[in-house]
Amino acid sequence: MEHSTSTLQNDDWERELKAFDDSKAGVKGLVDKGVTKIPQIFNAFNDDTPSETSPPQEFDLQIPVIDLGFDNGGVRRRDIVDKVRDASEKFGFFQVVNHGIPKEILDEMKEGVRRFHEEPYDVKKEYYSRDRSKKVKFSSNFDLYQAKTANWRDTLFCNMAPEPPQPNEFPTACRDITICYSEHVRKLGLTILELLSEALGLKPKHLEEMECMKGQFILCHYYPACPEPDKTIGAKVHTDPTFFTILLQDHIGGLQVLHQNHWIDVKPVEGALVINMGDLIQLISNDKFKSVKHRVLANSVGPRISVACFFTTLRNESDRVYGPIKDLLSKDNPPIYKETTVRDFNIQFNSKLGASSTLEYLRI
Ligand code: OGA
Ligand code: NI
Repeated sequence: MEHSTSTLQNDDWERELKAFDDSKAGVKGLVDKGVTKIPQIFNAFNDDTPSETSPPQEFDLQIPVIDLGFDNGGVRRRDIVDKVRDASEKFGFFQVVNHGIPKEILDEMKEGVRRFHEEPYDVKKEYYSRDRSKKVKFSSNFDLYQAKTANWRDTLFCNMAPEPPQPNEFPTACRDITICYSEHVRKLGLTILELLSEALGLKPKHLEEMECMKGQFILCHYYPACPEPDKTIGAKVHTDPTFFTILLQDHIGGLQVLHQNHWIDVKPVEGALVINMGDLIQLISNDKFKSVKHRVLANSVGPRISVACFFTTLRNESDRVYGPIKDLLSKDNPPIYKETTVRDFNIQFNSKLGASSTLEYLRI
């Protein structure tokens, strides 16, 4: 199936995009209508990124699962820091268990996301928006009009920090749990940031003092069951434009990480949270930690629910300049990246969506 999206946008394609957006019903709306074929805007094989058209063979390797329990500040902590360093360098991804967030909170968060996405159309459509100033909004494919093809998923977006929304801005279906989960995940984020600081050989509060957790937003994803899962994708190949991300996924699976040119499944582990490095930590760590490409496969089984907590600022919240951390540099380890503000990084990211990575643009 050929479709030259960059030069000749056909009218059908434009019409389909607009009709989909105007429906305000997302992918779930298509599924509810009973579609048996995916609309062409979702056809991932129109996407010519190499890793998409020729997926490397799958291989049976696991990303590390790190037990954060029993941390008594002694030998055990050094052991955890070593594992975090190792995983962040080699995979850019790891899972954590015994992380301190109660199972009931994780379960209720997933349930809250389900409740919202399964609300009647009239309730949900009130939240449907592409308005950049809105702190809480529902949409399908934030890059719908920029990307070559659309993802088979819907998302509720909540911008939680530095300036949280008013409680009445959240949908009632997930208001209380989103506010509660957001606080829990923030606390865990601080722990992870200490471990990452120590893993870089810095004092525990170094990354926090650099304001790597100043911004926090939560993406509540809903991946409906797909009638033609081999023809589309839940989430296209991407890296996260964050310092780091904490992801809660349900039992369905489908998240894959690129490792040495192979796709590795991030197997769902009961009660675990997935941590991944983003572009901004790769930049400040001068390539020590890797922001690794990942994707989510579409599935005939569903819905799949996941909640991604992104740590980065979104708007003009800071003039702070980020570059490779000076303490990490030496004659043998010169800076690889130019300095940037998160604001300029985001502008570059948004202008290059689906194209080459923002980090490459900043490479010296
Ligand atoms: C993301 C992401 C993975 C998932 O939101 O950036 O990679 O499993 N999500 O939903
Ligand atoms: Ni991601």
